[in-house]
Amino acid sequence: MAIGYKIAHVIRDKFPWLWDLTERFNSILFSIRYGETVSRFRFSAIPDGYKIMRMEDVSTEDIVNFFAKQPAEAFTFFKPHGFDYKSIQSLQKNKAFLAFFLIDCTQDDAERPCDDKQPTIAGYFFIRSFFHGKGFRGRMVDIDYRNKGLGTAMNKLLNEIGFSIGLRLYETISMDNIASYRSAIKASNIKIINEDFEKREYFIEIIDEPISPKANDERSENIS
Ligand SMILES: CC(C)(COP(=O)(O)OP(=O)(O)OC[C@H]1O[C@@H](n2cnc3c(N)ncnc32)[C@H](O)[C@@H]1OP(=O)(O)O)[C@@H](O)C(=O)NCCC(=O)NCCS
Repeated sequence: MAIGYKIAHVIRDKFPWLWDLTERFNSILFSIRYGETVSRFRFSAIPDGYKIMRMEDVSTEDIVNFFAKQPAEAFTFFKPHGFDYKSIQSLQKNKAFLAFFLIDCTQDDAERPCDDKQPTIAGYFFIRSFFHGKGFRGRMVDIDYRNKGLGTAMNKLLNEIGFSIGLRLYETISMDNIASYRSAIKASNIKIINEDFEKREYFIEIIDEPISPKANDERSENIS
């Protein structure tokens, strides 16, 4: 698995035309295999005061502005795709890229229905999915919304959709990204598949089982 993941990274970085072609094929095949299940899926564990919008329903401009607003530090461990208009537009068309935004409904007159307001994006979360049944999670919380539990909540939402449509979920986490690691183990049971001390990265699988508090505490102590 780790080898397949490395090959995918080499193709993405060195042969962008091949990556594009593969993404298009994957999008079609994923849609054939999972399209109906994805369209029937509804999230249940949405944090109070928020709503979720699919990436294709948010304007490309708002998405680009959301990323542009984040400080450089936010991208140290987060480089899943380009953040320019063209890259975002192509992701919005990719049926295998299951991406969502957490919208803060309490901003700009809490009484007004959230759907009537300009969306205030508090977080972004996605699964880059593959037609053969694997998905790779990622997320970013807006700088003004950090450390309120949203990163953990978005991990739970990713597990909800990923497992309910039948994907196996994976993620790479930098050993230096403590918030990311903590929010991952708080939301999920995980299995460390590979530890790359040179790159300082864990490659983990998220396991669809209840969280083991004991294993969690031990892992938490190891990372702090
Ligand atoms: C990683 C990220 C999504 C976490 O989101 P968040 O909403 O701030 O996280 P949470 O509030 O759910 O906190 C999760 C845990 O991390 C801890 N934490 C949060 N920020 C921390 C920090 N800067 N240093 C140490 N621990 C931190 C919290 O205390 C909590 O741990 P606890 O439950 O043991 O107390 C957010 O920091 C982020 O967007 N980072 C930039 C993008 C990125 O690196 N994404 C991950 C790679 S895919």
